[in-house]
Amino acid sequence: MESIEQDLIAAFRQSFQRAPRLFRAPGRINLIGEHTDYNDGFVMPAALNLSIWAAIAPRPDRRLRLRSLIMDDIVEFDLDDPAAQPRGDWSDYIRGVAIFLEQAGYRLSGADLVFDGNLPIGAGLSASAAFEVSAGFALLTISGAEIDRVELAKICQRAENQFVGVRCGIMDQYISCCAVAGSALLLDCRSLTARKVTIDPQARLVLCDTMVRHQLAADEYNARREDCERAVAALSTRIAGISALRDVTFDQLMRYVDSMPELVFRRARHVVGEIDRTLRAAAALDAGDLEECGRLMNLSHDSLRDDYQVSCAELDLMVDIARSFPGVYGARMMGGGFGGCTINLVDGTRAEAFAQAMAERYRTATGVTPPILACVPGPGAGPAGLIGAAHVSAR
Ligand code: GLA
Repeated sequence: MESIEQDLIAAFRQSFQRAPRLFRAPGRINLIGEHTDYNDGFVMPAALNLSIWAAIAPRPDRRLRLRSLIMDDIVEFDLDDPAAQPRGDWSDYIRGVAIFLEQAGYRLSGADLVFDGNLPIGAGLSASAAFEVSAGFALLTISGAEIDRVELAKICQRAENQFVGVRCGIMDQYISCCAVAGSALLLDCRSLTARKVTIDPQARLVLCDTMVRHQLAADEYNARREDCERAVAALSTRIAGISALRDVTFDQLMRYVDSMPELVFRRARHVVGEIDRTLRAAAALDAGDLEECGRLMNLSHDSLRDDYQVSCAELDLMVDIARSFPGVYGARMMGGGFGGCTINLVDGTRAEAFAQAMAERYRTATGVTPPILACVPGPGAGPAGLIGAAHVSAR
């Protein structure tokens, strides 16, 4: 981590000839509660111990100059450009956040920024939200604004919805802003209130990366969200007072199964079931019942694969391998889908053997060596680099 920060400071000095301040925003994992956030449901994310860093220094004008060491790219634009259009690349996440911060009433200073990170891009670990949040935190701080973390999460989500064009929910931005080290959070995506959920320290959360990168998944994602809206529209003529699938019980859904096309019904069945599973999983973890939490994670995967149809062959393969291994409580795909990582709840004494077996069996089946990572929930976004900055300036 220190080396990333030192490299970032050095790159900033080389590009912009002065010393930056550093900010860091983490990626996320999610134990359970997938595709429920934009249905006003519950999710159970935690911050990953991998992040995106933003190095920043103010400019006297209203320009933003952005450099990404990850993408090896430089982009410049003017905060006062009245006709800002997305470019279809990484810079849209930052530009979108700047635009929506200003629309929310924050007057931003121009700035030079350099980004780097150790969070893989496109792996379903929410690098996009980490870019947004690190940029938002950095821009607000150098502009002298107070930061309300929930407000920042909402503005970052708005940027992704309306500037980037992905109609994502609030989970990724919320956890990147508000994570608590050492815990997952049970987040109510309607009220945006959360409570800590402690995972028995005997268990490990192990991420296995299929190395399939989810290209073109945005269209499929937006289509799923539309299916959910169609289900709500059909049900709201029959059930009074509902505004999201969160408000629908399983019995109600079954009663009105004929009110919607079969595919829409299956999407709704996933969401209604997943919200219930997430609440049960939180109760199971509270009670120290890892078996039950794992069982619910397995059901979550099956539902994402069969009803929501956002898995892929490589994710299913990893889940099958995991489930045949002793000491694995549960295994499922994580995040939006169509590639990326699985999350596995594994007995701590078996985690090492599990990682080895997974790597071997996945490589044998696909020819690809999968990165495997044990995750310890980390803190949310914030200033970084104090140690690195002191070290560099002392040279
Ligand atoms: C992506 C989105 C989130 C959430 C997940 C699926 O990560 O950004 O808002 O919908 O997919 O649970």
